[in-house]
Amino acid sequence: MSPTASTTTAELFDQMHARSLSDPAGFWGEAAKDISWFKPWDKVLDDSNAPFYRWFTGGELNTCYNAVDRHVEDGRGAQAAIIYDSPVTQTVQTITYAELQDQVARFAGALRAQGVEKGDRVLLYMPMIPQSVVAMLACARLGAVHSVVFGGFAPHELATRIDDAKPKAIVSASCGIEPNRIVKYKPMLDAAIEQSAHKPASVIVWQRPQETATLIAGRDVDWMEAVAKAEPAECVPVKATDPLYILYTSGTTGQPKGVVRDNGGHAVALRWTMTNIYNVKPGEVYWAASDVGWVVGHSYIVYAPLLTGCTTVVFEGKPVGTPDPGTFWRVIEQHKIGTLFTAPTAFRAIKREDPDANHLKKYDLSHFRALFLAGERSDPDTLHWAEDNLKVPVIDHWWQTETGWAISGNPLGVHLFPIKYGSATRPMPGWDVRVLNAELKEVPRGDIGAICVKLPLPPGTLPTLWNADERFKKSYLADYPGYYQTGDAGFIDDDGYVYVMARTDDIINVAGHRLSTGAMEEVLSSHKDVAECAVIGVADDLKGQVPLGFVCLKAGVTRPHEEIVKEVVQLVREQIGPVADFKRALVVDRLPKTRSGKILRGTMQKIADSQDYKMPATIDDPGILPEIADALKTLGYAKTSSTPA
Ligand code: COA
Ligand code: AMP
Repeated sequence: MSPTASTTTAELFDQMHARSLSDPAGFWGEAAKDISWFKPWDKVLDDSNAPFYRWFTGGELNTCYNAVDRHVEDGRGAQAAIIYDSPVTQTVQTITYAELQDQVARFAGALRAQGVEKGDRVLLYMPMIPQSVVAMLACARLGAVHSVVFGGFAPHELATRIDDAKPKAIVSASCGIEPNRIVKYKPMLDAAIEQSAHKPASVIVWQRPQETATLIAGRDVDWMEAVAKAEPAECVPVKATDPLYILYTSGTTGQPKGVVRDNGGHAVALRWTMTNIYNVKPGEVYWAASDVGWVVGHSYIVYAPLLTGCTTVVFEGKPVGTPDPGTFWRVIEQHKIGTLFTAPTAFRAIKREDPDANHLKKYDLSHFRALFLAGERSDPDTLHWAEDNLKVPVIDHWWQTETGWAISGNPLGVHLFPIKYGSATRPMPGWDVRVLNAELKEVPRGDIGAICVKLPLPPGTLPTLWNADERFKKSYLADYPGYYQTGDAGFIDDDGYVYVMARTDDIINVAGHRLSTGAMEEVLSSHKDVAECAVIGVADDLKGQVPLGFVCLKAGVTRPHEEIVKEVVQLVREQIGPVADFKRALVVDRLPKTRSGKILRGTMQKIADSQDYKMPATIDDPGILPEIADALKTLGYAKTSSTPA
């Protein structure tokens, strides 16, 4: 669709959005023409088993074929598919589409030699190296289901995911590289397999020069040796509704949720977003500075850019310290990147070290067109700083692991709506976003409520949770019948702009990473001296939020509090991993609770952040709140006394 003289691009977007809701089959059926199908679908939207909606039922395709082989056949063989840029190993390497096809086909053959076939799960515990992308695509090639686990998770978390996904094989690397240390993956993986009830038949290991992993005979296989012996595998047709991957994300308990992604809807939706949301064309260089362990990495390091025939960047480094806050600008200049997608925290880190953007001035960014931010709320200061210095549109867009792509954003490929700071702009096509109150009624514009999405969700979103249909319904569909509950609270203004303000559950967002305070509380409670505990997210200038624990000790425990704090901090690092960033805890005599015994975490958080709060009507003993404030002051929180309304 293109605007005529009488239709503005803004109106065009409104028409697209309206059509996507009134005629989803027509809208997404057209979008699906950009994907190559082995067999056309019978039905675009299958609602025969609602609320389990399915997209493109009857259709067959292969996601890897669409992301790799198809581009080689179309003449992109010599174009870079991946640029691996690793300041931590001083490496820059380009992999063309033809080379990627060869590597993926061979690695798929190696997986098949280990018995991996369509429908089998393969768990990946990998750093930011091209082999991670190769392994994901190789699974897709075979119709196997990958489950990537972020490298910053500890063995216990890995074991939980192994037991849930029951992978036939695990793919890993000898190490990851953090600026201050080599992270040895293999011992953690061995420990996880030791802890898990399910045992994978084989483990394939990519040995990196920085660390050689010890292989266990009979189970572990060296990547290079496996590939040398393997027959390249062809793309296996799968059903559009077959799972492509499982990605675990934090729920409110220690048991993570296995978000399932299908093949057909996912390919169609992601390909559509590249044109219409990101305004990126085949052949361009696109960079998502995230990690393959997160949903942003799945969607925008791997699948969307490759489905579009773009060059994607695999960056192994940090925005600062590898080696300086100019790294991002160096990468953008060197690889002629047009569009960058990252989390606001990365920009806060750069701004903090280089407030006057002196590093940026050293580079030629004249080809750079747009910056997209997501993962957490974008604070206006950071947005202004990025806009003033980069002189390109800076677009905040809102999405979740569950959705796989943006619920709301600014559709740069169709129309750039005026930017309102603090808003993730407008609902994207396919998304019927409503703000509801506790009585399940829509609230007036401008009023805060639970942000929900009228069913069905568009293609590319989670069809269910892995092996947990009931949990899927209970978590997302039960509280607001007919709607998907995002778990975010916020409002929509008179212009239809969406403002995402806070989570409605106990999830916190640390440096754009989603973490469960409930999971941390489970770890704290396991400490022998802890009688009860609470974890809250407190505001942090760099990371948005960081977790803070409160522990009450069992009667008779007389050990120094500092010792216990050190132990619980270490325990969370061991059980959940460094990614939790759990570094602060306080020993207190008692926790504030309602008369029915519910801990008042929200009130504690407001006190910590020096915000005004409402004295909960159901509080059991208001006298505990000043005790909490005093304890918080010892760590530099609750700086100004907040007052109950
Ligand atoms: N493997 C092992 N450990 C990892 C890891 C990985 N892949 N990634 C992070 N960690 C560790 C870090 O080393 C750190 O450990 P430490 O406590 O010993 O220092 C801890 O986990 C926390 O990591 P991180 O949140 O990355 O904090 P940081 O202080 O190292 O860096 C930022 C801060 C802001 C620079 C960093 O968070 C960042 O680059 N964020 C970009 C945003 C992003 O990628 N978001 C993803 C969603 S889009
Ligand atoms: P994750 O599943 O890790 O991507 O985290 C999703 C959560 O991050 C959302 O439910 C929001 O709470 C938060 N989030 C993501 N993007 C934004 C955004 N642009 N603005 C505000 N919050 C966001």
